[in-house]
Amino acid sequence: MRLLPVWLVRQLAPCLAPLRWLTDRGWLREADVDWWLQRLHPLLSLRRVYALVETRHWVARDMLALTLRCNGNARGWRSGQHVPLYLERQGVRLSRSYSLVAVQRDGRIELGIRRAAGGRVSPELLDRLTCGDRLELGQADGELQWPGESSAVLLLAAGSGITPLLGLLRAALAAGYAAPVTLLHYVRQPGQQAYGRELQQLTQQYPNLQVRLALTAGPAASGELVGRFSGGQVAALAAEDLLACGPHGYVEQVRIWWQSVPGRHPLQAEAFTPAPGADGEQVASVQLGFARAHQQVIGNTRDNLLEQAEARGLRPPHGCRQGICASCSCVLLAGRVRDRRSGLVSQEPGQTIRLCVSVPLGNVTLDL
Ligand code: FES
Repeated sequence: MRLLPVWLVRQLAPCLAPLRWLTDRGWLREADVDWWLQRLHPLLSLRRVYALVETRHWVARDMLALTLRCNGNARGWRSGQHVPLYLERQGVRLSRSYSLVAVQRDGRIELGIRRAAGGRVSPELLDRLTCGDRLELGQADGELQWPGESSAVLLLAAGSGITPLLGLLRAALAAGYAAPVTLLHYVRQPGQQAYGRELQQLTQQYPNLQVRLALTAGPAASGELVGRFSGGQVAALAAEDLLACGPHGYVEQVRIWWQSVPGRHPLQAEAFTPAPGADGEQVASVQLGFARAHQQVIGNTRDNLLEQAEARGLRPPHGCRQGICASCSCVLLAGRVRDRRSGLVSQEPGQTIRLCVSVPLGNVTLDL
């Protein structure tokens, strides 16, 4: 039942502050308040972000663009960030992170959702979700930003890494960014180029934008590059700023190449897959302490701490499982862990780590 229009639902968010104050002090239960609010409109909630599916359209053979209208708890989001999306299936709460391709002032957002082979969330969204359905989201996160200065920009995207970069590109061009911008998108085959038609239209509309396609497995047409990323492919594309998004191996290759480019600004990059464990890594047994669960168990130095906690029956909150969304952040109480993406070691008690990309280097105690 919807007794209120969506625009009013969004405006009401600040007016719910007194109810939040009462729930913070335990005088009201948040779940009870949300139940009553949702008699007025299914998007209303004290703190949770709910959204209605407004439109869905295919932007590649295997990618769907979803437009969602969010309630007023989605605030301060930017294109290029990513947001966890939750689904409940057979009593199990599933979560995946997707990039924000667009964020509008009226609460509309666009997500680009690629079908993941063997995935449990993407087939639900691509094949069963319909307009008018309600979804729950978490809060947006992510550091990618369009360069502040007016400089030549190179955007390197692999696969669905196009989605955050397109979000930033759209916003920059609409705001009048006039310096040269080159976007190079790596996909396996031509049908996998997401948002291809829109990118073509943008190049016609904005003369400072150049878009190239690179095919990593398939015959290339004229103007397209062939093969995986190499410094030689992009050496002629002069730029002071580089933003890159793709799987871990791709981002690492870009990072190494960029270090050799003179006059460069710091690289902005985001990988949507975690780094693999080092080959030949010795696997050792360690003791894992889960303080809140009062558990001491035997773990190993190979698997990430999220998997190891889940294997012992714990259910830590999580989202992307790729080190991006921060949903699995947890306080390290004792011991040393290594972040698989960066190789950085954390060992300060009280430090926050991301469970899904952290492996223990010895005995570890977590606030879990
Ligand atoms: S689950 Fe997203 S950062 Fe760990």
